Amino acid sequence: MPRIFSGIQPSGELHIGNWLGAVQNWVRLQHTYDCLICVVDQHAITGKYEAGSLSRRTWEMAVGLLAAGIDPERATLFVQSHVPEHVELMWLFNTVTPIGELERMTQFKDKSSRYESVPAGLLNYPVLMAADILLYRADLVPVGEDQVQHLELTREICRKWNQEFAGGAQFFPEPQPLLSEAKRIIGLDGQAKMSKSLGNTIGLLDSPEEIWNKLRPAKTDPARLRRQDPGNPDVCNIYSLHKYFSPPETVTLVADNCRSAGWGCIDCKKVLAENVTAALAPIRERAAELTAHPDRVVELLGAGAEKARRLAGETMREVRDRMGFLPRRDT
Ligand code: TRP
Repeated sequence: MPRIFSGIQPSGELHIGNWLGAVQNWVRLQHTYDCLICVVDQHAITGKYEAGSLSRRTWEMAVGLLAAGIDPERATLFVQSHVPEHVELMWLFNTVTPIGELERMTQFKDKSSRYESVPAGLLNYPVLMAADILLYRADLVPVGEDQVQHLELTREICRKWNQEFAGGAQFFPEPQPLLSEAKRIIGLDGQAKMSKSLGNTIGLLDSPEEIWNKLRPAKTDPARLRRQDPGNPDVCNIYSLHKYFSPPETVTLVADNCRSAGWGCIDCKKVLAENVTAALAPIRERAAELTAHPDRVVELLGAGAEKARRLAGETMREVRDRMGFLPRRDT
């Protein structure tokens, strides 16, 4: 089975944007690929962050992923910092990565402009990402548009290392991007991509009341000012969400009733809220179950890290050897 690696930052709770855009895809892929899913807590400290909430956010992300259907019987789910080989390989890769390449990354340019003094970790972020992927010699990486450039750099690091330390042989296979159907989930503000930091999300574990309280004031067709004004579903983000959460007949009904002003926006949102609530109910149930048994989550993450360390250890033994380090007395 070809191997897939994917990482997600521990932003705390998953939201429907992450779910529709990435996690649902992973849940599908775990049936046909050998999947490694990593909560990348070490990436999450490259910007300003709160040390006091990192472990909670990491935990909640792991619970969210399990509740959303990542199956530890099929996929290997683990926390990046539990496998120290990631940073070891990152250091080794740092020695073959040109600074110029790191400096021209769009994400780096974007984020570094907000700092007076730029942390080196922000610059080296993509080197850690390359280590994540190559440590397991993954064949495929499901990524969104925004990570394609980082993956391209991973491939360059891969080629460079292979050239210098494997005589050009494919010790590390060049990982390919697995671009899924581009889903750009717009937040409830109707403008920006759904993102926790913008507060325009619906959490995957939100209660029916929370879902309704967030949907009720959400932006619709801005030209539809009064109840009797006909609307244009094609410019309404609530309509886009219906396409993900409502059956096709409802989607048609929504569009018709929007154009004819048969429904007001509130009527339309009520139907959406019901369907979102129904779709998320099983996830909420599984999350509640896991939260009631934290020992089970500890156990699953422990087993995931153990499996990952075994694979990482095999790679690192050979990497250290090829790079010429004095062998350690290994156990
Ligand atoms: N940089 C990715 C993001 O912000 C997260 C990530 C870290 C990742 N390591 C990875 C994604 C390895 C894919 C593969 O979304």
